[in-house]
Amino acid sequence: GRDHDLAGLRIMVTAGGTREPIDPVRYLGNRSSGRQGVAIAAAAADRGAKVVLFAANVDAAVLAEVQDRAAVRVVPVSTTAELERASRAAAAGAEVVIMAAAVADYRVAEVAERKIRKEDGAGRAPVLELVENPDILAGLVEERRPGQVIVGFAAETVENEAELRERGLRKLARKGADLLAVNAVSWSEGFESGENTLHVLARDGRPETVATGTKRAVADALLDAIRDTLDS
Ligand code: PMT
Repeated sequence: GRDHDLAGLRIMVTAGGTREPIDPVRYLGNRSSGRQGVAIAAAAADRGAKVVLFAANVDAAVLAEVQDRAAVRVVPVSTTAELERASRAAAAGAEVVIMAAAVADYRVAEVAERKIRKEDGAGRAPVLELVENPDILAGLVEERRPGQVIVGFAAETVENEAELRERGLRKLARKGADLLAVNAVSWSEGFESGENTLHVLARDGRPETVATGTKRAVADALLDAIRDTLDS
């Protein structure tokens, strides 16, 4: 049963999408609504865990799902650098780390201090130079405390399920997480919607599990896999 099966655990969850500023009024971002990560935080709290939720640009309407849960502390963040700083500190005090946020791989090399104005471009479109962001998940894996379970996500645009699994397995090996929750994303799947299909891959060779349903339902299936990993 799931009733209070996560009692006593401290779980860190990231949700939403980081934004990288271009100038004071513009940013580079992605379509993550935060719904999947927020559903994980809600499910974990309902099962007895204490949760810190780093919410990257998540709308209040989405956060409403956890607002009345005393066991969830919501910390808003925006950029990848902010998320990295906050999650490093919090991961040190968590038995489980779940990285559901869509993190920008690149940021703008030089953020303009004032709004970039069309009139200043002399008829030429601006060119943005990007630099790589740190991989937060890889950093947390490096600093992993004994017994800590680290769960990565993988959002993949694929042709079919075989390709999804293959890309997932490669990412699992590369990232060093204990579990990898793989979902297909496209113009109409994964992001924003109320439903999802999650393939949960384990590094310890435990068989893959697949869950389809509401983001809350797949969140509970993911937490089952985490509980089984902690128990083993
Ligand atoms: O928010 P919703 O609208 O509900 O949509 C949910 C979702 C599709 C965003 C979510 O289920 C999901 O797949 N989240 C991860 C998206 C992602 O960034 O995947 P990725 O394959 O690019 O990254 C792999 C993993 O590395 C992720 O755990 C990510 O948090 C982490 N990462 C990535 C880049 C980076 N610089 N640092 C990281 O830690």
